[in-house]
This record gives sequence, C-alpha cells and structure tokens, in this order.
Amino acid sequence: MRVFVAGATGVLGHRLVSELADRDHEVLGLTRDDSGDRVVEEAGGVPRRGDVLDRESLREACASGGGPGAENGVDAVVHAATAIPTGESPTADDWERNDRVRREGARNLTAVASEAGADRFVQASVVWLARRPDGSAFDESADPNPDPTTQSALDAERIAREAGRAEGFESVVLRCGFFYAHDSAHVRTFGERLLDGEMPIPGGGLLGRRDADLSLLHADDAATAFAAAVEGDAAGLYHVVDDDPVATATLLGALADRLDAPDPRRVPRWLAKHLADEDVIRLLTNPMPTSAGPFRRDFDWEPEYPTYREGLDAVVRRWRADGTLVETPDGYEWRGKGKTRPKGEA
Ligand SMILES: NC(=O)c1ccc[n+]([C@@H]2O[C@H](COP(=O)([O-])OP(=O)(O)OC[C@H]3O[C@@H](n4cnc5c(N)ncnc54)[C@H](OP(=O)(O)O)[C@@H]3O)[C@@H](O)[C@H]2O)c1
Repeated sequence: MRVFVAGATGVLGHRLVSELADRDHEVLGLTRDDSGDRVVEEAGGVPRRGDVLDRESLREACASGGGPGAENGVDAVVHAATAIPTGESPTADDWERNDRVRREGARNLTAVASEAGADRFVQASVVWLARRPDGSAFDESADPNPDPTTQSALDAERIAREAGRAEGFESVVLRCGFFYAHDSAHVRTFGERLLDGEMPIPGGGLLGRRDADLSLLHADDAATAFAAAVEGDAAGLYHVVDDDPVATATLLGALADRLDAPDPRRVPRWLAKHLADEDVIRLLTNPMPTSAGPFRRDFDWEPEYPTYREGLDAVVRRWRADGTLVETPDGYEWRGKGKTRPKGEA
C-alpha cells in the first residue's frame, strides 16, 4: 500500500512510518523541516513537506511521492498530527493551535484523502474524551464527555467519519490510552521530577488519597495498532489501550522504583495544580479505565507491552542504554537535562 502519514515525526508517527516500512508499504511522511526529513528517512519513509493547516501543501505532498514513474494517489491516510502543549505552563494560544491541527487538519487531510483516491482514513484520538464522571469503566458505546482540551479531538473524529461516509472511504478512529515511551516528553518530565523529588502523586479527595485508574499504551504498541488499522478491513471507532488500567500512584511509584528515586508523596488535586501543569494533573486525577476488546478482535492485534510493568522496564532500560540516564555512586542522574523529545530515535 501507499500510505500518507501526517504527524510522521512524532512519538507515534516515526514508529508508525518504521512499522509500515517494515511491512513493505511505501510511506510518505509529512514533515516541516530538515530534521523532520531525517526522522522520516531514518524510519524508512519518504519525507514530503507540508502543513496540515495548508490544504494545497498536502495535495502536493500526496501527489509527488514515490520517485520517477511512480503512481500518484495514496491507498490510506493517517492523521496523527497534534500540537499538544508539552511545556510547563501552556497558554490558551497553545491549546488553540492544537485544536486547529486536530479540526482543520482533519478537514484538510480527509479532503486530500478523497482526492488522492484513498480507501482508508485513520484518525488518532484519545480515550479520555469519553471517561465517565463517576470514574467507572466505559467502552466505545459510552457517550462522549469531552473537556475543553479534548473537544477538538471529538470534532476531528466526527469530521473523519462524516467525510468517509460522504466520500466513500472507510474511516477508522483509534482512541488511544495515554502514550508512554522513552521519547515521550511527559514521561521524561515525570522521570526528571521524580529523581528531583518534585513529582507529586496527585489524587482526589481532601488528602489526595483517591486514585484514578489510567488506561495506557506503549507508543510501540500504538504504532502496531495504527499499522493494523491501515491494513485491515474493519472500520469505525475503537479503543486501543493495554491490558491493565493502573492507578496514578502505582504508576508513578513504579517509575520511581525503577529510577531509585525517592518515594513520591501524595498531594490533593487542588494543591497539585499549583505544583505542576494543570492539564497534566487533570489527566492524572480523572479515571479512564477501558479496554481494547473490539480492536483486538477485529484487527487481530496484541500489545507487546500488556502492562505498564514491562513497558516501564523497557523505557528505563532504553534511557540507560542511550545514556539519557547515567548511573553514579549516588544513584541515577539525567544527562542533557532540559532536552525533551530526542527527535528521530526509534
Ligand atoms: N500523547 C499521548 O499520550 C496520546 C494518547 C492518545 C492519543 N494521542 C494522539 O496520537 C496522535 C499522535 O500523538 P503524539 O504523542 O505522537 O504527538 P507528537 O509526538 O507531539 O507529534 C506531533 C506530530 O504532529 C506534527 N505536527 C504538528 N503540527 C503540525 C502541522 N501544523 N502540520 C503538520 N504536522 C504537524 C509534528 O510535526 P513536527 O515534528 O514538524 O512538529 C509531529 O510529527 C495525536 O492525534 C494525539 O492526540 C496521543
């Protein structure tokens, strides 16, 4: 297949390019600069410059890949572009940019998918946009319950599904759990703050003792799920998460253990908001337990990291192997502190 991936340089995207290339697909990866080109090339894809907010640039990017003699058009398009703020104090403008990448990106990419003759469109989304107010488990049939940061993800889902119906291609919406990986900016921040003894365990209730169960997904498993969705026949809305929703306190405690970091202390949500980014605290304190049963059944998919336990082992192993985490007589230290996503590392 010839697959066009928007978001090809991201945590999910560069893994997806690599996974699709390994499966012998021709992958056109959308990039915006030289370093993005290198990421896509190293992953085995063909870089194509463009911006999801600029439809004409997407048309050109889709049409020109493949080298001399290659056919124009693509078989599948993936929208995995996002501009989720990862800094300490995101502004309203930062979130607005993310909303535009989701909504306008979905409009532009579905239009270009239709023009390029694609049969399949795969839209990335987040499971926590349907979490229940009472914290109970939910599935794909649950009514959406978006907050101001996830409304645009819900809108992008709708745009992808309506365009599929109108234009005659299959739309697959993958609502994923919270990504973690050695090159995820949030996970790196958690690790740094745990080692510094500055990462609170935020919880509900007056004393912060009420835990939230989070649904997670290792980014490597997200990539195999998206590749399965590109190749498969089924369509519709699916949750893609690992097998074991985990309480925030257990997750942060497990990461602290692996880093030989001090035990993080519990802090009530209202206080944690003053210590860390409010959006991250909201994510960590609102339960989102769900499962991937229908996706596993329809796409014959299984995660390589069924729980956070194997996944965190792999993350810390990788940090040690690539020198991100240096062992000293007093424990671990970060090398190159301040650098977040090591762009281009597989
Ligand atoms: N992170 C999570 O925990 C999580 C969980 C569930 C679902 N998801 C969803 O999965 C998808 C991928 O997330 P991620 O964590 O892999 O994101 P990421 O690492 O932040 O990567 C974002 C990607 O989007 C690209 N991008 C941003 N603005 C663009 C624009 N205007 N035009 C073209 N490309 C643009 C970036 O390109 P540059 O390199 O050029 O900036 C990068 O390739 C998103 O839809 C996200 O909502 C994420």
